[in-house]
Amino acid sequence: MQLEWTDSGEAFADRAASYVAGLLAETPAAVIALPTGSTPVGLYGRLRALASAGKVALSSARYVNLDEYVGVGPADPHSFAAFLRRHFLDAPDIPADHIRLLRGDAPDIAAEAAAHDAAVAAWGGLDLAILGLGGNGHIAFNEPGTRWDAGTHVVPLTEATRAANAAYFADGFVVPSHGLTMGIGMIRAARRVLLMVSGRAKAEALGALLAGEPDRDWPVTALCGHPALTVVADAALRPGR
Ligand code: GLP
Repeated sequence: MQLEWTDSGEAFADRAASYVAGLLAETPAAVIALPTGSTPVGLYGRLRALASAGKVALSSARYVNLDEYVGVGPADPHSFAAFLRRHFLDAPDIPADHIRLLRGDAPDIAAEAAAHDAAVAAWGGLDLAILGLGGNGHIAFNEPGTRWDAGTHVVPLTEATRAANAAYFADGFVVPSHGLTMGIGMIRAARRVLLMVSGRAKAEALGALLAGEPDRDWPVTALCGHPALTVVADAALRPGR
């Protein structure tokens, strides 16, 4: 594991953006899984700015999302699909057919999950999974106790996760009881993983990863031993600080 501490929000976003730009320079047609949440917002802004300045090409890569709210369709502004379009995927140089986003309102959710896995497999698997981290250690929506060998699947969301996510909406949006998430197996199979960790609420979950022992109560520990894991973390979370 490569662990990098950054001293400011700017440095955090810059470091993540230079990591992704480096991958795109090396593998322009990379297949990349994208997270939502506050953590990657700076990264997305920087990638778009780098693309506008002609310093990175986003046009050959393929993009999928990691997770979605069950029952919430892509046209709903609360959906993760809409979030990713607003912050990143609406970049002018990303072709529509290079994007595969989960449909949380699909009438047959199991078929939608299977289609997501099939799309990623058809593209050759993930070159990069970019991940945020839940305070309870979740990656994507793989909550504590979730099986580590499932494909994209429906999971009940914990109250802690629902409360944390509700805080992003001032309009009374009720966070659904279930999420649809890419499974840990596919995330672990990504050729590279970039885990972004920001915010004091993540200290315990990051500590579990740094302890180095896989533990089902802390899904992020599924990444222990991944051959190409880079963690970019807020220096405020450094143990002993
Ligand atoms: C959400 C998402 C995750 C995300 C996490 C952290 O529940 N399902 O994919 O990584 O929470 O969010 P934030 O970056 O806002 O702390």
